[in-house]
Amino acid sequence: QVLFHLGEMITATASVSDEILELLGQEMNYQIQVVSPEEEDRELLGSFDISFGENHGGEEDLAARPPVVTVMGHVDHGKTRLLDTVRKANVRESESGGITQHIGAYQVPAELEGEERLITFIDTPGHEAFTAMRARGAKSTDIAIIVVAADDGVMPQTVEAINHAQAADVPIVVAVNKIDVEGANPAKVRQQLTEYNLVAEEYGGDTMFVDISAKQGTNIESLLEAVLLTADAALDLRANPDMEAQGVAIEAHLDRGRGPVATVLVQRGTLHVGDSIVAGDASGRVRRMLDEHGADITAATPSRPVQVIGFTSVPGAGDTFLVVDEDRVARQIADRRRARERNAELASRRKRVSLEDLDAA
Ligand code: GTP
Ligand code: MG
Repeated sequence: QVLFHLGEMITATASVSDEILELLGQEMNYQIQVVSPEEEDRELLGSFDISFGENHGGEEDLAARPPVVTVMGHVDHGKTRLLDTVRKANVRESESGGITQHIGAYQVPAELEGEERLITFIDTPGHEAFTAMRARGAKSTDIAIIVVAADDGVMPQTVEAINHAQAADVPIVVAVNKIDVEGANPAKVRQQLTEYNLVAEEYGGDTMFVDISAKQGTNIESLLEAVLLTADAALDLRANPDMEAQGVAIEAHLDRGRGPVATVLVQRGTLHVGDSIVAGDASGRVRRMLDEHGADITAATPSRPVQVIGFTSVPGAGDTFLVVDEDRVARQIADRRRARERNAELASRRKRVSLEDLDAA
């Protein structure tokens, strides 16, 4: 009624703009505060003392964590084969047409100067269709390995991967692969990459290049050493393991037998079986956790990728996740997010309908 008198033809079920809400508030003597979805989330999470993107607790709470390394590069340059060799496993066999279509994550032991260490690897697809997955991969990582096949050289998705890594300010190690192939030209790859500010140490730059053959297992240890050296030299890889877990969902799908299955990367805190968890608009309780060998584990510490079973719906890839105190809270956060998405969708549908009405008239 008030709006009607102000000349705004608005019905009771219509969505109104922020400006109109503020106008209405003024007219009726209410203080209206317009809150963005991000602010709403932050407010909600703030009441549970949670925030993203930084370490929690004091210096004394931080413990060393393994580096998270994303493997990127042009299609067929040997990313998955490299990780198969590192893991002494065979993922490529199970891929359709040998083309990686989702992100895989594995933790493997490595050695530096006689010391046993762990590295978390994230495999990404090289096919041009999967830009978003590469962008995401580059964001939740500490180091990027750019794989370039020495018989093919720098290609479009090589450049794209480098751009993602540089935009995310992630240090790069270059693996020049397929040096066993006739006509392989590792020197040319080095030369091509100078154009993207990746200058090999032997040419006076500060990027580590390692010539490898993923197929024959050549120089794999040197590559792992280069990764660990980069981690030690450039990064402060520590996190508080003694808090409720937070991290990112890397990949998720609906499994016929097990229901929603999400591969998550724990970034801080420790994830336990039994925890209430929320990721995007999905929530649930961790019923089981499986490591990269399919073995059950009960706790996952920082930098650990793990498959989580127990979500009631499938989280989105790239969604941040966090553990909350109770099922109820997890559900509440997920419900709010879902309601918000539904409202946005309704609003856009309403707009479409009214346009169609106009057309009809
Ligand atoms: P996408 O995930 O689809 O981008 O491909 P990818 O980069 O994971 O390549 P993948 O590991 O599937 O390897 C592509 C092909 O190159 C396969 O046939 C591998 O066996 C072969 N290959 C990978 N590394 C080497 C290598 O070092 N030498 C030789 N000769 N072949 C290799
Ligand atoms: Mg692959």
